[in-house]
Amino acid sequence: MPATVVVGTQWGDEGKGKLTDLLAKDVRVVVRYQGGHNAGHTIVVDGETFALQLIPSGVLYDHVVPVIGNGVVVEPTVLLAECAALAARGIDMSRLVVSGNAHLVMPYHIELDRVTERYLGKAKLGTTKRGIGPAYADKAARIGLRVQDLLDPKIFRQKLDVVLREKNAILAKVYNRLPLDADQIAAKYLDEVAPALGPMIGDSVRLVHEALDAGQQIMLEGAQATFLDLDHGTYPFVTSSNPTAGGACVGTGIGPRDIDRVLGIAKAYVTRVGSGPMPTEVAGEQGDMLVELGHEYGTNTGRRRRPGWLDLVLLRHAVRLNSLSEIAITKLDVLSAFDTVKVCVGYLDRDELYEHVPYHQSVLHRVQPVYRDLPGWRADLSGARTVSDLPEAARAYLDVISEYIRVPVTYAGVGPGREQYVRLAV
Ligand code: GDP
Ligand code: IMO
Ligand code: MG
Repeated sequence: MPATVVVGTQWGDEGKGKLTDLLAKDVRVVVRYQGGHNAGHTIVVDGETFALQLIPSGVLYDHVVPVIGNGVVVEPTVLLAECAALAARGIDMSRLVVSGNAHLVMPYHIELDRVTERYLGKAKLGTTKRGIGPAYADKAARIGLRVQDLLDPKIFRQKLDVVLREKNAILAKVYNRLPLDADQIAAKYLDEVAPALGPMIGDSVRLVHEALDAGQQIMLEGAQATFLDLDHGTYPFVTSSNPTAGGACVGTGIGPRDIDRVLGIAKAYVTRVGSGPMPTEVAGEQGDMLVELGHEYGTNTGRRRRPGWLDLVLLRHAVRLNSLSEIAITKLDVLSAFDTVKVCVGYLDRDELYEHVPYHQSVLHRVQPVYRDLPGWRADLSGARTVSDLPEAARAYLDVISEYIRVPVTYAGVGPGREQYVRLAV
């Protein structure tokens, strides 16, 4: 049976964790295909909250094999801490498989992420400072250390010595920082991390293909989102991987024909953390309402997310970039507080109307959104479970979205809980 991709369609935090968990009920394997511990995916089950950074969101089901794919960058101490925390809550973590080809986030990556952000000053990207950019940069430069290197101490040490010489020169000479100690890093990674992580390291590509061959359903979980994509996002205000659906193939080791369903996740409004253009950003009271009612503070870094109205121009572009077959609209309940809700259906720049995303980034920085005002519903949606539980105005809101993007809305989120959603007819 082919695979399903779950992909963020905005700037992250759309509720990928919740939807992945929801769909994982019926699948055998869930693979995280890119990103690292810059992600924070939340699942709420019976009032208990699970915030996952590296571990796939299918992990709460016993029948799921959670896999960290080759496209992920793994900070192993964070991974082990996450495993320990989940194990302490009664979850069997012995099932986890970590691709040997995934790259390691090393202490110098984290240090370099911090100092380069500081160095950029006002031009900073607002990264999560988790070392993600530097780790992917080393992967592309072919000087990265991979998870499988943990299994060969001699190779690990050789590679570390070479790369650390260069990193320490940069840290000391460019950024005036203290050099890092190779012996300390090797001791931590080889003596502490390797014995604990060793049993989880495996051939994730083979595992996924054996599952596909056996007719099992698999799910590929993206982190970050379409407009944080290194190629298709609002560069340079992006992450350093490819969250778009194409990245699911590369980051898992399957071909496009193995995928038959691409579920995009979009909030009923938008948020963004960090710098970069955001045409529908809303300041003032309405923005504060979105942030407070939506609890829009980073799962991971605690930063306040920038709020805005739903941007249908971007969403339609996300449909193309990911070949979305359907979309889930989350946090519909948060809009219940508004008399009027807005959706952006175009951009205006110096009398020019754009109905698509302008390819030139400078234009996107300047544009003014063209809104369509829609009536709010002013009703508590948290208990809605079927379409008929949704007020007419809320249904109309979803219809406007699906008509504009020409893709069916198949789920509507009405609260953080696992059961708080409405399944819509396809
Ligand atoms: P992810 O990174 O895409 O997995 O999303 P996050 O977990 O970072 O952020 C989404 C937040 O919204 C989390 O706190 C979820 O518990 C919460 N959430 C998800 N779906 C809904 C929904 O439909 N309604 C409400 N009110 N909260 C939701
Ligand atoms: P999930 O998977 C929201 C943002 C950062 C910054 C930019 C680059 O939970 O949706 P990075 O540390 O990746 O180099 O930062 O990307 N960013 C996210 N924003 N949700 C995320 O993950 C994010 N991961 C990275 O805020 O703007
Ligand atoms: Mg998140």
